[in-house]
Amino acid sequence: LKAVILAGGSATRLRPLSCTRPKILFPVINKPLLQWILEGLVKNNVNEVIMAVNRQTEIAMKQFRTRKCGVRITYSCDPLRKPLGTGGPIKKAEKHIGYNASFLVLNGDIFADVNYREILRMHEEKGGVATIALCHVEDPSRYGVVELAKENRVKRFIEKPQREDAPTNLINAGIYIFSPEIFKYIPEGRMVSMEREVFPRLVEEGKLYGYIHNGLWVDIGKPEDYLKLNEMLLDSIFIQQKLKFKGEGVKVNKPVAFDKNVSVGEKSVIGPYAVLGENVKVGRNVFIQDSVVFSETEISDFASLEGAIIGEGAFIGRRVKIGRGCIIGDGVKVGDGITLSDGVLVCPSKEVFENVSAIKCII
Ligand code: GTP
Repeated sequence: LKAVILAGGSATRLRPLSCTRPKILFPVINKPLLQWILEGLVKNNVNEVIMAVNRQTEIAMKQFRTRKCGVRITYSCDPLRKPLGTGGPIKKAEKHIGYNASFLVLNGDIFADVNYREILRMHEEKGGVATIALCHVEDPSRYGVVELAKENRVKRFIEKPQREDAPTNLINAGIYIFSPEIFKYIPEGRMVSMEREVFPRLVEEGKLYGYIHNGLWVDIGKPEDYLKLNEMLLDSIFIQQKLKFKGEGVKVNKPVAFDKNVSVGEKSVIGPYAVLGENVKVGRNVFIQDSVVFSETEISDFASLEGAIIGEGAFIGRRVKIGRGCIIGDGVKVGDGITLSDGVLVCPSKEVFENVSAIKCII
């Protein structure tokens, strides 16, 4: 079984953090999402992956030197400044994929514990052109909504309907098995949306099936979902860590996750739900809760973070207060005594020396 990972989107909803790193390299409990995905593939005996990327993602992945977990990775790149959407990259990778067997396609922004072999088994049993994994969610309006008929055949596929128009709460989980016949359904050399063009056609022809996945599934496409995923994993797979601090009286409210070489100064209160990346330096009397701090960042004395995401190599000054939903880009400097109220976004490498009291993006 070969897998194609779609990882060349623009990730607009995760800006400003996605300005400097592709979604697939976002750390999830201090490990890039890509590595989690590769480990899941290896567990399912998938050892060959085609990364359907854009130029930026390809460069970032090569620079980053992600652990490949024994998987052979080939890159298939969209033309420069001409994104191919969710379908075009599959067509472009046609020669790499070959025509001998069904193959797996994954959206590169999904964290899930899906059994890919089970979907393949169902796909082969039903004999369709495509089988898509489906999940139940509370609000289906952000996704492709699916209505199933008998024998798991897809009766309707509606991309992002109004909430009241959604016939079910079963949604496209962004995980598919395709037969090589799918290549006939995807036009070559242009942007193609699987969700809007290809799936509706397959439904008409009765060749699309749905596999219901009841396990863990999170789309990290929005900051709040990204934070939620870190939180869920802290709850479920928390690894016992021996934490050592230089300062006295540090209070750690579990669950938390610290990467290598994190230091925390005296009387700081960390957690619950704090993820600190490699070499993060936390000063004295700091408060961090419900937040993710990427590697190499420094949080100075008396600062407080609640419900925020702080990018890599940032510097947060003394007595700074950062509110819920704030996203601080890589390499940002926030001056001493500054307060950023809820929902403030700061673009990479900016310096902030004034309080911000309304939802705003600092460019
Ligand atoms: P938003 O801009 O925030 O909607 O994110 P996105 O661009 O990643 O779009 P979306 O979440 O719908 O994409 C689903 C998956 O397809 C993601 O893993 C994307 O990286 C991938 N993808 C989306 N568009 C393209 C594209 O044009 N080319 C390639 N190679 N992958 C894409």
